[in-house]
Amino acid sequence: MASFIVALGAFLLLHSPASASVVEISVREHGICKQFSLPIFASAPTAIYNIPQVGNDIEAAAWAIYDATRTTPHDTSNIIKNTTTSGTFNIHVQLCIPTNGKHEQTLQIATHGVHYDGRYWDSAYHPEEHSYVEASLAAGYSILTYDRLGVGQSDILDAYTVVQAPVELEILRQLTLMARNGTLYDIAANLGPSNGASTAVQKPEKVVHVGHSFGSFLTSAFIANYGSLTDGAIITGYLLTEHLASAGSTSWAVEYPSSLAFDRPSGYVVCGKVGIQNIFFGGNTSTAYTPALLEYGNSIKQPAPVGEFASAFSLLGNYGPSFTGPVQYFLPEFDFYVCRGDCNGLANITQLAATYPNASAIEVALQPNTGHALPLHNNATAGFAVNFDFLERHGL
Ligand SMILES: *[C@@H]1O[C@H](CO)[C@@H](O)[C@H](O)[C@H]1NC(C)=O
Ligand SMILES: *[C@@H]1O[C@H](CO)[C@@H](O)[C@H](O)[C@H]1NC(C)=O
Ligand SMILES: *[C@@H]1O[C@H](CO)[C@@H](O)[C@H](O)[C@H]1NC(C)=O
Ligand SMILES: *[C@@H]1O[C@H](CO)[C@@H](O)[C@H](O)[C@H]1NC(C)=O
Ligand SMILES: *[C@@H]1O[C@H](CO)[C@@H](O)[C@H](O)[C@H]1NC(C)=O
Ligand SMILES: *[C@@H]1O[C@H](CO)[C@@H](O)[C@H](O)[C@H]1NC(C)=O
Repeated sequence: MASFIVALGAFLLLHSPASASVVEISVREHGICKQFSLPIFASAPTAIYNIPQVGNDIEAAAWAIYDATRTTPHDTSNIIKNTTTSGTFNIHVQLCIPTNGKHEQTLQIATHGVHYDGRYWDSAYHPEEHSYVEASLAAGYSILTYDRLGVGQSDILDAYTVVQAPVELEILRQLTLMARNGTLYDIAANLGPSNGASTAVQKPEKVVHVGHSFGSFLTSAFIANYGSLTDGAIITGYLLTEHLASAGSTSWAVEYPSSLAFDRPSGYVVCGKVGIQNIFFGGNTSTAYTPALLEYGNSIKQPAPVGEFASAFSLLGNYGPSFTGPVQYFLPEFDFYVCRGDCNGLANITQLAATYPNASAIEVALQPNTGHALPLHNNATAGFAVNFDFLERHGL
């Protein structure tokens, strides 16, 4: 905790009359961050899926067995009724601008995966070694992180019918549009005290999309469907092969959130600590990560809505000829969830190029001796450097 306070330096909590949104400002060693709630209008196709109700621990474990059962469909055949979901969703965002803006005109928009919220990118535990946000600021990049719908401080809505993949994809598109046209920066500048660092940048010239795990499902689908809205992508902890998710959701050891003191409605499930280890930690237990990192990774976990898993298929393998930028696939060597524990030799550039035929570059890098949660392993900063090197080499 000590390092958290040091990293924040000055920490202010303000109430902005303009938007009635609570804004938190944190001054970092290499920049400044503002956290606030952003109302985003989105309309997207959704569905009522044939999935079991989850209202207690027994039903949570039974859901995982159902989800992992070999004959359970994960496609449109599981739809009872097609619907449309429209609304204004409150999304909790954090916009960080570097003090030394070597690349401040490039904004990264980072989308976290399932079982976490935006804090995945911004570890409060030894941030100088484990926060991708801190590393981005140190490298001179702006970065926007956010809590996806249904987690953290964003709206927690119906787990069966509302928090579904297409809605989340549309929220990412709206966030990107607001970043590109300057709205996001105007809102950030008007919240709280004006500050040189956060008002100097009107809007980014380039936007790079970064994902982890389910956030990479979303990022892959985003760059495939909306290629003109992105200048490049970093896909971490995700590769579409027969091994993706083959370990099955029973390995997550889920419970009903209220059993672990989370306040969530029906249909949310949360990992036990062993589930967090199974999914997110890998490599040699004496060199890859520490017990403290596992403890921290467990402490920031978030419940996940079952409708997200039922609808996730819509994001996979989208054909993306409109994407013309560079993309880096960054795989933890020993990713259990994505590669069934060993990513060596699984990436096939020919197949990736078939998905993104107009990409200017497709690169694959493996981060050695690391599990699914890249930032929470000992060698995380060396991995971040691989990401920033990729961006620099491609003029981003
Ligand atoms: C829902 O829409 C999909 C196409 O998006 C279609 O394949 C499916 O049959 C529809 N299901 C129902 C129950 O209408
Ligand atoms: C910017 O984009 C957002 C999201 O699509 C939109 O609501 C807003 O009207 C746009 N603002 C300008 C000035 O174009
Ligand atoms: C893990 O690393 C330690 C320390 O380098 C080494 O002694 C041990 O053999 C390694 N274990 C495995 C299974 O590779
Ligand atoms: C590449 O993009 C152009 C438009 O930018 C499109 O006409 C073409 O079909 C794309 N190429 C492939 C192989 O899809
Ligand atoms: C990569 O994929 C292509 C196209 O599916 C296939 O022809 C090729 O054999 C694959 N390469 C390897 C090393 O598996
Ligand atoms: C740490 O990561 C870097 C970048 O991927 C890699 O070159 C290096 O070998 C890794 N070090 C260890 C000890 O795994």
